[in-house]
Amino acid sequence: MQSLKGRVAVVTGATSGLGWWVAHGLAARRATTVVVGRTPARTVAAAGEISTRTENPDVYPVVVSDLALRSEVVRLANLLLARYPRVHVLVNNAGGYFHRRDVTSEGLERTFALNVLAPFLLTTRLLPRLVESSPSRIVMVGSAAHRGQDIDFADLQGDHHYRGMRAYGRSKLELLLLARQLALRLHGEPVTVNVVHPGFVASHFGRNNAGGVGYALALLEFLFGRRPERAAEDVVFAAADPSLEKVSGEYLERRTVVAGSRQSRDMVAALHLYETCEMLAKLPA
Ligand SMILES: NC(=O)c1ccc[n+]([C@@H]2O[C@H](COP(=O)([O-])OP(=O)(O)OC[C@H]3O[C@@H](n4cnc5c(N)ncnc54)[C@H](OP(=O)(O)O)[C@@H]3O)[C@@H](O)[C@H]2O)c1
Repeated sequence: MQSLKGRVAVVTGATSGLGWWVAHGLAARRATTVVVGRTPARTVAAAGEISTRTENPDVYPVVVSDLALRSEVVRLANLLLARYPRVHVLVNNAGGYFHRRDVTSEGLERTFALNVLAPFLLTTRLLPRLVESSPSRIVMVGSAAHRGQDIDFADLQGDHHYRGMRAYGRSKLELLLLARQLALRLHGEPVTVNVVHPGFVASHFGRNNAGGVGYALALLEFLFGRRPERAAEDVVFAAADPSLEKVSGEYLERRTVVAGSRQSRDMVAALHLYETCEMLAKLPA
């Protein structure tokens, strides 16, 4: 296990599921680990438990109320910038599945806001710090659900047709496109950005959905899901393994770079989406 001592790693959605174990894996490698959660008690508890289990005193909680809100993402970025003069690893893990369309108080469809715009905004806000701290790595937690999807730029928010699974798959395609575009922009800088599919994981994924959907997902995860501690090691691999030092703009499954869907390699769409997100990020919250 390589040591990350002296390196600062930020993990969003680290209070449960995959993110908890990613934070644990980074803390076990001695990184100063920032556990980002959305409820004070659970975030403090998660950081405390990870610190105790890994015997790493440098595990810190940071609370943000809802990453689907741009105002909160900006607040989180400012907080991190104020507290940490160096940031070497950013794991954008927080994400969710919303069976029914929901719109945030800022007027954005929730799947897009949480799974796409939040990681984009957090990453771009922290980018100068990641560059100053380089070599550094950005890891996006993506999904094989991006396969078979395409982007409808005329209906990015699912105003006209919303289906939960399609919105989720599209959001992960969009995340992959943004990562590839960002990697292009970072060409020549020792800052990498990659997307990891953790497999189907026995986490708490989808439990926010009422009734049968949440129950069905819980059952499937119980029956077929990978253990989150194992899946998390694939994310930690992308965040830390020396073999990936120069790998950027890639999509990984089971610690291996794979192509991803044809749509995920459409760099015209990637540029268009990046510019759209830049525009959305600038709108008043
Ligand atoms: N599970 C799978 O099979 C699977 C497969 C492929 C990809 N993924 C991806 O893996 C990532 C982690 O998911 P998971 O499976 O670990 O699910 P999970 O157990 O539901 O964990 C999601 C994490 O994100 C946080 N979160 C959710 N909504 C948030 C919001 N609005 N603001 C701030 N934090 C929020 C949750 O906080 P709370 O603890 O407060 O709920 C939790 O810590 C997601 O990006 C997901 O899309 C999962």
